[in-house]
Amino acid sequence: MTEEIGGVIKREGLTGAVTSRDHEHLPTQLGTEFVIKFSRLLKGATIYDRKNVNIERLIQECLQTINDVVQSEGSLFFKIVRDNYFFNNIRIQVMADKYPIFKSFAQEMRKRWIGEIEFSDEASGEDLKDFVYLLSGLEVHNESNFLYVNKQLEYRNITGIHVGKLEFFKDEEIYVDSENQKRHSREIYFKSINLVKEVSESIKSQKMFNVRKAKRLMQNAVNAILQDETTLLGLATIKNYDEYTFNHSVNVAIYAIAIGQRIGIPKKHLSHLGMAGLFHDLGKVQIPREILNKTGKLTPEEWMVIRAHPVVGAKTVMKMKEWGELSTRMISGSFEHHLKYDLSGYPRLTRKLKLSLFGKIITLADFYDALVRPRVYNRFPYVSEKILGIMLERSGKDFDPALVKVFINMLGIFPLGTLVLLDTNEMGIVSKIHEDAEEIDRPQVCLISYSSGEYRKGKMVDLSEIDETTGKYKRTIVKTLDPNEYNINVAEFLI
Ligand SMILES: [Fe+2]
Ligand SMILES: [Fe+2]
Repeated sequence: MTEEIGGVIKREGLTGAVTSRDHEHLPTQLGTEFVIKFSRLLKGATIYDRKNVNIERLIQECLQTINDVVQSEGSLFFKIVRDNYFFNNIRIQVMADKYPIFKSFAQEMRKRWIGEIEFSDEASGEDLKDFVYLLSGLEVHNESNFLYVNKQLEYRNITGIHVGKLEFFKDEEIYVDSENQKRHSREIYFKSINLVKEVSESIKSQKMFNVRKAKRLMQNAVNAILQDETTLLGLATIKNYDEYTFNHSVNVAIYAIAIGQRIGIPKKHLSHLGMAGLFHDLGKVQIPREILNKTGKLTPEEWMVIRAHPVVGAKTVMKMKEWGELSTRMISGSFEHHLKYDLSGYPRLTRKLKLSLFGKIITLADFYDALVRPRVYNRFPYVSEKILGIMLERSGKDFDPALVKVFINMLGIFPLGTLVLLDTNEMGIVSKIHEDAEEIDRPQVCLISYSSGEYRKGKMVDLSEIDETTGKYKRTIVKTLDPNEYNINVAEFLI
């Protein structure tokens, strides 16, 4: 993908033959290229020391991008404002597959309170190296970091590079330590489960429930996902068989919000999407447990009861008048989530219907979570690349093809929680997806070892790490393993 961008730039951008249409896309292309190269370099500087060969390579790649821009545009100015990125004062349109890399880069910068980077002159490799090691070594959460960096640059006679302070907005939360953040995410997850339980109980006994509380919780969930997606997606791998419906509802909300933010749905609407996900199966509340949990074949009557739940759910929401515009979205979520992309699902329609975006997102989230649900005979969920295969196969029939792409990109080829065997003969659990789409097959893995009768958490390894002496990757996934065969509860290792 990067080559493609690089190719476009070389072909059209920097040779001067730019048409007016390319002009609109150019800042986005150049800005994206800059973020990819610079964030790789910054990450490299935290892993490798200054003399490492990998650093040399990363410096050269990044330098080329920077100096090309400085040559053609006069200077390079990059700025972060909230979730927006500006490149030479023009806002970058972040593509869905580049979203994670932008987000993780912004997080790294935010931690250091740096919001602007400027190259006003062509830089040398040594300048860039000095600069990136200055950045990587900065104290976390120090507001005057930018002053320190500029002073240091001046002191080293590097006059063409400057940084600026991060613009901070009150509603943005900056978590200092990741443990705090994780705790916060866990709290939201379990609060949401309790909320779905409460709401289900109230509906069963025909009582009203607190809509405000639900809205607030979903706003918090959106914030938490924006800050710490990995923990929440990790929590979504929890599959509790006894409380399946509650778990499932929260997981669908999490997946839906995570997809929504990648395709650029505004924050305010993301919490609506979360609500629609949380209550998409509201219509199941009245269905007797015996039918819901039946493992044998359903009778035609039972099947009819099940198939009624999208309509029952939509009707339940309709009764709650005070929900405003949120109601429409929640009705779509409930009514459409089993319809399928080609409308071949249920309820059967008498007229053609244009599916809503929220409906299509929830359909995908619902399907994925339902497929990884534990069966009675499988204590733990079966997470595997097979599920993604099924989704691809049904893309265009059951699911919106564009959304399938975004979803697979988000989960990675080896989704969070996948049990894997490495070429070093070590076993591990995928714990963090690589932000760089090119290294989607190289996630971070938590190694596990077997000793005194149980599996224990080992160290965290990054599969994108290269061995300096051989120039090859230190570890590579050989194959995925079924956690049931090893009796491993992956969720335990993730949260
Ligand atoms: Fe459903
Ligand atoms: Fe569902």
